[in-house]
Amino acid sequence: MYKGQKNAVIIAAAGSGKRLGGDIPKQYLKIAGVPVIVRTIRAFSENPHIDDIFIVANEDYISLCEELCTEYNLTKVAGIVAGGSERQDSVYRAITEICNRMPDTDSVLVHDAARPFVNQQTINGVIEAVSRKGAAIACVPVKDSIRKGTSEESFNIERKNLYNVQTPQGFDMQLLKEAYDRAFEDGYYGTDDASLVERLGRSVELVQGSYDNIKITTKEDMPMENRIGTGFDVHALVEGRKLIMGGVEIPFEKGLDGHSDADVLIHALMDAMLGAAALGDIGRHFPDTDPAYKGISSVELLKHVTKLIYDEGYSISNADITVMAQRPKIKPYIEEMRRILAETMDMDISRISIKGTTTERLGFVGREEGIAAQAVCLLCR
Ligand code: CTP
Ligand code: MG
Repeated sequence: MYKGQKNAVIIAAAGSGKRLGGDIPKQYLKIAGVPVIVRTIRAFSENPHIDDIFIVANEDYISLCEELCTEYNLTKVAGIVAGGSERQDSVYRAITEICNRMPDTDSVLVHDAARPFVNQQTINGVIEAVSRKGAAIACVPVKDSIRKGTSEESFNIERKNLYNVQTPQGFDMQLLKEAYDRAFEDGYYGTDDASLVERLGRSVELVQGSYDNIKITTKEDMPMENRIGTGFDVHALVEGRKLIMGGVEIPFEKGLDGHSDADVLIHALMDAMLGAAALGDIGRHFPDTDPAYKGISSVELLKHVTKLIYDEGYSISNADITVMAQRPKIKPYIEEMRRILAETMDMDISRISIKGTTTERLGFVGREEGIAAQAVCLLCR
C-alpha cells in the first residue's frame, strides 16, 4: 500500500532471450548462484508498497517459476500467467488477470524480469509519481553522443533532454487497461508500456532511474562471477629423492617424499584451483593409492586440473603461491617455475606469482624436515 493505494507489479518474463543465446532464457540464468528472475522478484517483494506480484512466464517455465517462488519464499507472488509472442501480448495477459482477479488494485507497475538490479529508490520514485500523475516511468539521461543516419550520411542529435527508458513503468490500473485495449483494437505494437498510454493523449512523468538498472540483453550484460580458492600442502624432505617444485628440478641434498613427484608447490596450486570451483581436492582426483599416479610429474596433474576448470566455463584470473622452505633458496628458480605454470595453465605469466619464505628456523620447516606451500587462485566466469 502507498497512501492507502493498492499496488501490483507485473514481471514480464516470457521472452526467450534470443540475443543472449544459450540453452535457457536469460531470466533463469544465475548471478552468483541466484537466478536473475528471483533477484528481480525479490526487489519488489522487499518493497513495502508493493502488495501483489504477477509473473508472466513461458508456458514451459511456469512450473519452474512456481518452484523458485517456493524455494526462495516469494510469498507476494499472487499469480503466474502464460505469456504471448511479443512482450506486449505477455503484459496484456497479466493486466487482464489482475483486472479479473484483483479489481480493487489501484495502480500497476510493469517491469522486465531481465532487469534484476533495480533499486528501491527507483521503485519508490515510480510509485510516488504514479500516485500523483497516474503514469510514470524510470529513465536515465543518455550518456553518449547520439547520431542519426547511415554510415554515409548522419547528423548529431542534441543529447540534452534525451533519456534511456527503463522499467518499472507504472500506471493507474484503469488507464493501463484502456491503453492496452486500445492498442490491441488498433493492432498497434509499441516498444514499451508508456508509448501505449501516450496514444490516449496522456503524458507520463519521468522518474530518475539508475544506470545500474540495465536490461540484460546480450552476454556482455551478464556480470562475471568471481570464485576464490585456497590450497595448502606439506611434504617431508628425505634423502634419495629429487627435489621438484613448480615443475623445476632443484639441485639439493634431499628431495620431497610422496607418491607422485611430490611437487608441493603445484599441489597447493591445484587445491586452490579445485577449491575455487568447489570440485573437491587433489586427493579425490588423484588418489595416492592409485598406481597410475606413482612417480607422475605434477605438471601432468596440473594439465588435467586446468582442463577441469576450463571445462566448467571458468577462466583463471590469477594465482599466488608461497613456498615455505628453510633451505634451499628458491629465488633462482622462480622465473622458470612461473614459465612452466603459465604454459601448462595457458595463462599470461604476469598472472602467476611465486614467492619463497623461510620460517626463521621455527617448526618443521625451520628444522628442514619438510617444505610447505600455500596458494590462492581466483577464477571467473
Ligand atoms: N518478454 C515477455 N514476453 C515476450 C517477450 C519478452 O514477457 N513475448 C519479457 C522478457 O522476458 C524480458 C522483457 O520482456 O524480461 C524485455 O524483453 P527483451 O529484453 O527483449 O527479452 P527477450 O525477448 O527474452 O530477449 P530477445 O529479444 O533477445 O529474444
Ligand atoms: Mg525481445
